[in-house]
Amino acid sequence: MTELLEPRAIGRDMVRRDGEAKVRGTATYAIETPVEDPAYAHPVQATVARGRVTAVDTSAAEALDGVLVVLTPSTAERLASVEDREYAVLQSDEVDFRGQVVALVVAETSEVARQAADAVRITYAEQPHDSTLAVDRDDLYAPEQVNAGHETDTAQGDVAAAMATAHATVEQTYTTAMYHNNPLEPHATTALWDPAADVPLTLWDSTQGVHPSRSAVCGVFGLEEEQVRVVCPFVGGGFGSKGNAHAHVMLATMAARAVPGRPVKLGLTRQQMFTLVGYRTPTIQKLQVAADRTGRLQAIAIDVVEQTSRIKEYAEQTGVPTRMMYASPNRRTTHRLAALDVPVPSWMRAPGECPGMFGPEVALDELADTLGIDPVELRIRNEPGVDPETGKPWSSRNLVQCLREGARRFGWADRPPPLHREGAWLVGTGVASSVYPTMRQATSTAVIRYEDGRYVAEIGAADLGTGAWTVLPQIAADALGVDAEDVEVRIGDTRYPVASVAGGSSGTNTWGSALVVAAREFRTKFGHAPADGDEASGDVDQASTDEDHSAYAFGAQFAEVRVHADTGEIRVPRLYGVFGAGRIINPRTARSQFLGGMTMGLSMALHENSVWDDRIGQVAKHDLAEYHVSVNADVGDMQAHWLDEHDPYVNAMGSKGVGEIGIVGTAAAVVNAVHRATGVRVRDLPVTLDRLLPALP
Ligand code: MOS
Repeated sequence: MTELLEPRAIGRDMVRRDGEAKVRGTATYAIETPVEDPAYAHPVQATVARGRVTAVDTSAAEALDGVLVVLTPSTAERLASVEDREYAVLQSDEVDFRGQVVALVVAETSEVARQAADAVRITYAEQPHDSTLAVDRDDLYAPEQVNAGHETDTAQGDVAAAMATAHATVEQTYTTAMYHNNPLEPHATTALWDPAADVPLTLWDSTQGVHPSRSAVCGVFGLEEEQVRVVCPFVGGGFGSKGNAHAHVMLATMAARAVPGRPVKLGLTRQQMFTLVGYRTPTIQKLQVAADRTGRLQAIAIDVVEQTSRIKEYAEQTGVPTRMMYASPNRRTTHRLAALDVPVPSWMRAPGECPGMFGPEVALDELADTLGIDPVELRIRNEPGVDPETGKPWSSRNLVQCLREGARRFGWADRPPPLHREGAWLVGTGVASSVYPTMRQATSTAVIRYEDGRYVAEIGAADLGTGAWTVLPQIAADALGVDAEDVEVRIGDTRYPVASVAGGSSGTNTWGSALVVAAREFRTKFGHAPADGDEASGDVDQASTDEDHSAYAFGAQFAEVRVHADTGEIRVPRLYGVFGAGRIINPRTARSQFLGGMTMGLSMALHENSVWDDRIGQVAKHDLAEYHVSVNADVGDMQAHWLDEHDPYVNAMGSKGVGEIGIVGTAAAVVNAVHRATGVRVRDLPVTLDRLLPALP
């Protein structure tokens, strides 16, 4: 148990501290960093999906006025480490995927850099590529582990036997599409290499973690951490794609080292973001569920097939939520990967839980139909008393309360019957559960200092637009017993103490814990009348960790869908989410996270799809005109609510993290509502007109 902070500033609806700077346009993003006389870098990308570069003719590019240097695999510096092949830029002639960077131009202006990149002539020895994901590939393999260190496969009991004897079963395959993170701010790095300076390399990088970004660069270039500073005060979103550095950070560094003393700006284009900064793998999920006549699960199993790249493994943990979500004596989860000639997949908002709660939550809806049991009630009947995977008690689990509260707010009891029609519109409602693990990273340190009559808290945390600038002072204030207005927080710079990545919804939990330790240490050392310069530090490792409980945030999502009977047009006039996510530090920023996640889930249900063109081995969509995302006009009455949850086991704030759970389960709720409205069961995302029209009543 942890002694929970007395919430004074915590829980208050405080405005964003960075809001005014963003609205006025004075907040500087990485590409806008004001530097003296910048040069600009632009990558040249491979136009074959597999092969070898046999010749690079840079003469036309170099002849252009304003070109400073063209780096190629034969002229680029040799890196200290090429172990991570995503980072081993310009180190070999091999082409591993279409769009991989094969040359880099540095020029006086971004226009000249782009023009010169176009003028670089590359000759390839093309080889046949293999980029099609399929369940029947004979080279699927089991990775050693899946993302976040989870076991690849798990099994309890005998699923096959339960499937053969149960009263009702569902056995279906569900698929989620490939998705690209597409944050509003394109990935960018401004880099300065000044060999004579104490800190020779400075990177102004759009990142979810300045310290993790620095570690990656140090490893690749063989630099000491003291030699590198990474700065990132503001980020225009990341959704995981800025969670670890990608190739462009190494390219920007390499470019800067090629023109010492001259800052270099490298901003990826929206088009380049479709190959160079990760994406969510498509998944194929075979589900088996079996229940007795009362709806109690006898078996639940998920067998997942997904892709990774040939050069670097990323294994989405899609089967993981099935391990702990519902009670069932027999269970199985497996993950198999195809390593393809494709860009490197990576994290995208709620990796694992987001795709992994699609198949199971639709399968449960199908099971509810088969049994004639209300889908809310079916979920409640399968509530596990303890974590079914570990046997540990829950730190707190309020899924049932979320389902009941959501049903009440939504008016679930009065929902229209199947195939209900209002004029030209078929109307249906659907429900699905959400879950996301409550995490805290192992490393983070905060310093609290008394400076000019106020408290200053320093920690190298990142604010992706999520609210760290605003909620960290609230936490520090309660830990110190002062007003939030009396605390200044400094984040986003490796000059401040080490901080973990803003990922896995763990930022607030981790950095907040370090702040609480630092604040308590400060009070112990200096009491309540500190002198200027008094300082204390706290490490998250000193925060008590609870090994005896299983900690997750839970939620329930309710969707109303209207499908036009003639055109198949789908509208979602209502989407309600109710979450049990621990104590909410700031209702304003938290609501924004829930609603943002739900909007992204709606987008996954209806719009997003990185259509893969196997003939050329690349995504056929390269901008936001073709890669559709849900926009204002697609969002109706969307509401996020939360329970007043008290959890003394997670951390001193009692917070569980809110960045990702909103996207989990949303797509299933929409698909389940579409089925109720139309009788059409769509098992492959997104639900587009072509999947509905042929089968509409
Ligand atoms: Mo989030 S995908 O853990 O950055």
